[in-house]
Amino acid sequence: MSFILKVLSAAAVVGAARASNFHVFDNTAYTNTSIGYQSTNINWIPAYVCNPLTKGGFLPSVTEWKNIVLEWNVYPGYPLVLDCEDIYFTNESTADLYLEILSSLQTWAAEVIPPGQIIGWYGLSHAFFPSAYTFSSSISTWNNSLNSVINTITAINDTLPIWPYTWPQYHNNYSFIPVELWETELEILSSNSHLDGFVIWGGKNYAVCNDSCQATAGQQPWLNATRSYLSNLYGIYNGKLQKTGAQIFSL
Ligand SMILES: *[C@@H]1O[C@H](CO)[C@@H](O)[C@H](O)[C@H]1NC(C)=O
Ligand SMILES: *[C@@H]1O[C@H](CO)[C@@H](O)[C@H](O)[C@H]1NC(C)=O
Ligand SMILES: *[C@@H]1O[C@H](CO)[C@@H](O)[C@H](O)[C@H]1NC(C)=O
Ligand SMILES: *[C@@H]1O[C@H](CO)[C@@H](O)[C@H](O)[C@H]1NC(C)=O
Ligand SMILES: *[C@@H]1O[C@H](CO)[C@@H](O)[C@H](O)[C@H]1NC(C)=O
Ligand SMILES: *[C@@H]1O[C@H](CO)[C@@H](O)[C@H](O)[C@H]1NC(C)=O
Ligand SMILES: *[C@@H]1O[C@H](CO)[C@@H](O)[C@H](O)[C@H]1NC(C)=O
Repeated sequence: MSFILKVLSAAAVVGAARASNFHVFDNTAYTNTSIGYQSTNINWIPAYVCNPLTKGGFLPSVTEWKNIVLEWNVYPGYPLVLDCEDIYFTNESTADLYLEILSSLQTWAAEVIPPGQIIGWYGLSHAFFPSAYTFSSSISTWNNSLNSVINTITAINDTLPIWPYTWPQYHNNYSFIPVELWETELEILSSNSHLDGFVIWGGKNYAVCNDSCQATAGQQPWLNATRSYLSNLYGIYNGKLQKTGAQIFSL
């Protein structure tokens, strides 16, 4: 456990995010489609960039990594998520090496982004940005899995902010999930007091969203449902906010 806290301790000031602000991050890249409606920016170094560099326990050169960070940190000041899934702690024998790699990548990233910008790891079970993707049409399965991730993280340190990654497509066959299921997930996310918001992902990767998926993603009902949800959440048209934290991210 302590290894991940060590890594996370290098991340910037985060405590202030808790409770007051509830951020919904738009980390989608569907063609001609962005969520808007006060969702907030996020920077992301995808697995297809990080994995090949680190697979097998390798570390890119400082220069190479810093150039990658600068290339992907398109919204300076907003959180940066590192998605490096090949160096998670799956084996005691590689844990020390992988920790060293995670620490180096995080430290080098911090050296080229604005001071105070949050850096988090995607998908590590003890991270800011755990996964809350959908594998079945069962909302209770999804909710139980979310609650279990939250319990793991808060047991380690209940002051760390948690922004789960969501995705309006099924993880197994990439079809868009039924809009009622998506709306229920959104409601659960904003009523769970342990969460500081969440990230909406999708469309980054041709393997999970091909040309026809890309071209039609913006016409699928998840988009309108998400925008309606956000207008209520942030009181966009009626001034009655359910949560604060709309597109005004600041540290
Ligand atoms: C852990 O890594 C060692 C050395 O590479 C390997 O022999 C062992 O099978 C691995 N264990 C698991 C559970 O993957
Ligand atoms: C995709 O998977 C989900 C969950 O298993 C299932 O409910 C749905 O029918 C599948 N859709 C297609 C198009 O295969
Ligand atoms: C999801 O889990 C939370 C926390 O345990 C619970 O309060 C809520 O009722 C659950 N919602 C659904 C729809 O299962
Ligand atoms: C929890 O995280 C905060 C913020 O990084 C840190 O200041 C604090 O020492 C941590 N607490 C424990 C018990 O590790
Ligand atoms: C694109 O993806 C959809 C949904 O996953 C699939 O039904 C379709 O066959 C794919 N089209 C091509 C050209 O691969
Ligand atoms: C995206 O928008 C551009 C400019 O309006 C247009 O040329 C292109 O065909 C659109 N792509 C899709 C997949 O709708
Ligand atoms: C968009 O979503 C809202 C709320 O769910 C619904 O009332 C409205 O009819 C939807 N509009 C369209 C065009 O689907």
